[in-house]
Amino acid sequence: MKKFPTNFWWGAATSGPQSEGRFAKKHANMFDYWYEIEPEAFYNQVGPDTASNFYNSFREDIALMKKVGLNSVRTSIQWSRLIDDLEANTVNPAAVDFYNQVIDCFIENGIRPIITLHHFDLPVELYHKYGGWESRHVVDLFVGFAEQAFRLFGDRVKDWTTHNEPMVVVDGEYLYQFHYPNLVDGKKAVQVAYNLNLASAKAIAKYRALGLDKDGGRIGIVLNLTPTYAASESAADQEAARFAELWNNKMFLEPAIHGHFPAELEDVLRRDNVIWQTAEEDKEIFKRNTVDFLGVNFYHPNRVKAPDIAPNSVGDWLPTRYFDDYQMPGRRMNIDKGWEIYPKAVYDIAINIRDNYKNIPGYISENGMGVSREERFLDESGQIQDDYRIDFIKEHLEWLHKGIEEGSNCFGYHLWTPIDCWSWTNAYRNRYGFISNDIHTQIKTIKKSGQWFKTVTTQNGLS
Ligand code: GAL
Repeated sequence: MKKFPTNFWWGAATSGPQSEGRFAKKHANMFDYWYEIEPEAFYNQVGPDTASNFYNSFREDIALMKKVGLNSVRTSIQWSRLIDDLEANTVNPAAVDFYNQVIDCFIENGIRPIITLHHFDLPVELYHKYGGWESRHVVDLFVGFAEQAFRLFGDRVKDWTTHNEPMVVVDGEYLYQFHYPNLVDGKKAVQVAYNLNLASAKAIAKYRALGLDKDGGRIGIVLNLTPTYAASESAADQEAARFAELWNNKMFLEPAIHGHFPAELEDVLRRDNVIWQTAEEDKEIFKRNTVDFLGVNFYHPNRVKAPDIAPNSVGDWLPTRYFDDYQMPGRRMNIDKGWEIYPKAVYDIAINIRDNYKNIPGYISENGMGVSREERFLDESGQIQDDYRIDFIKEHLEWLHKGIEEGSNCFGYHLWTPIDCWSWTNAYRNRYGFISNDIHTQIKTIKKSGQWFKTVTTQNGLS
């Protein structure tokens, strides 16, 4: 039996925009709006309007999560739901009521709620008016929203995270066109990365100014840390991996944990004339407001090689002038989602955090396997036999366990996701949950992996 530390978080993660549905929500977020104007961009034209109906069925849903043995669940509070007046930061009473009930219901069921404040769901008005995260004013509005959430729910929610995967906002909205507004603009991407970091640090400052850290509360950030593996030992591939690591990982990891940006990254951005704009006081804000803990989302490793085209022959600045994706021959694939499976990366992450990031307390905040057409695996009783998911989780947990044995300060593992939920433009194409969801009837059924996980959480280990 591989035992895990006492009080280990066995859980799963979802988000407001992917589970609640738009019911009774005053503002549209970026995805709500994108679906309004371009439904064909979404798989089978399924948008976020119903999602997994959590707004209406949270009591039943949480009861199912309890059955699976989850002792902790992360979800998010939607800015576009909680706040009525986006400038004055007044709250919407129905939203306050809803989130109060959700939080209380989790706690009554013995599930620790972990709350994220921003999960790709900026209110779209703030993009149209100010350019969203391009603007420092939006940073301050976010801090106002965060303050409301802290004041309203901080008595019961003891673990907060500012952003979920802020790098995906940079990538999706400003570089690779998978989030509205689908721009390709390296200079803006750089500024947005900076402002997202600033928003996190300022929200942390606010949390501490309210004294909530003195009351057993903690605040952190969730980053998608896909380790960078170079295609070869050649100097050119190593150099490509070095920059990819700076850009994809360290740009958020270093400010969050060390309180400043990596000097090497700033040097490159300055040399290339795309460096971010800052204000005098920012340095001090970053320095004083590092995180209490780190959430790591890990799905697939990032393999890179030297770019085929020489950097200075490329026109507009994009980070990819310094590295190309590398498709390693023979790599193990989850073909449905198109992601490589490489469980050892979890160990590499744990050791990296142990050795280079103060061994800060952290947990795997998302990991999981998206599989399409899971009804292929239904048995006679109507249960999905997702043995592939059990194997996937097991393998990742084994590597995580090794990391913990070697001193990593890891306190939990969350699967993406408790109940099959809506996945952005992929909508319901791939399923990730311990619990399936028939999106036509909203009938939810525990999968074999859910049953299996219950035994893992009960014995606090893997047999
Ligand atoms: C993550 C994201 C989640 C979920 C997941 C699976 O990157 O944080 O919101 O969509 O991917 O697709």
